[in-house]
Amino acid sequence: MPKEEKDKKTIPTIVTTAYSNYLVTDLETLKNSKGESLDTKPVTALCRCGNSKMKPYCDGSHEEKGLNELKKKDRIKDEVKKYEGETITIYDNRGVCSHDRSCVDLLPSVFKKEGRPWIDPDGAAPEEIINTIEKCPSGALSYGFGDRRYQEFGHELGITTSKDGPLKVTGGIKLKDDRGSKAECEEHYTLCRCGHSKNKPFCDGHHIDEDFKAD
Ligand code: SF4
Ligand code: FES
Repeated sequence: MPKEEKDKKTIPTIVTTAYSNYLVTDLETLKNSKGESLDTKPVTALCRCGNSKMKPYCDGSHEEKGLNELKKKDRIKDEVKKYEGETITIYDNRGVCSHDRSCVDLLPSVFKKEGRPWIDPDGAAPEEIINTIEKCPSGALSYGFGDRRYQEFGHELGITTSKDGPLKVTGGIKLKDDRGSKAECEEHYTLCRCGHSKNKPFCDGHHIDEDFKAD
């Protein structure tokens, strides 16, 4: 096989429907929140209902309890807001924020826990803002200069579980969803695995209210 062919990685695909688990083909990198590697198969079935006893894998629990993973009408709608500063512009889609709080913890002068507007693009140096935005797992945050918007940050190809929270999908893994859901950023996004998001398949932070527990 030519070297270029060998080096070319097959991009995994996550297939899901309103009533099924996540079926991931060609997944090579699956890690837990401690960074430890977990086993994968040619098709890896991952839990999305929150009831599996073998998380992050599916154990068929959704078949017993039934799944209805349609989006809820009262969810925070997908809308990208623009916060223009003197140098940098910050973009934000509240509909897909997974509420891991890394932005407010890392850079509170820009991402404010309280008060409106909650983003001040002039609250820190652009480099610090970029560093923080690149850690946003959900794709809710991105940045731009002039007319150019930057959403992709060169993450490793794989899926990582977050402790008591969503699946962090990185590196451009394709999502095929029968409801036609599209990630805010296809290079990184977070998928609900607690069963309580109103914006399924994406996490919307409801695992916190529901006190979801999983490692
Ligand atoms: S997902 Fe992104 S926008 Fe939401 S709290 Fe985390 S870093 Fe902030
Ligand atoms: S894992 Fe975040 S809402 Fe379900």
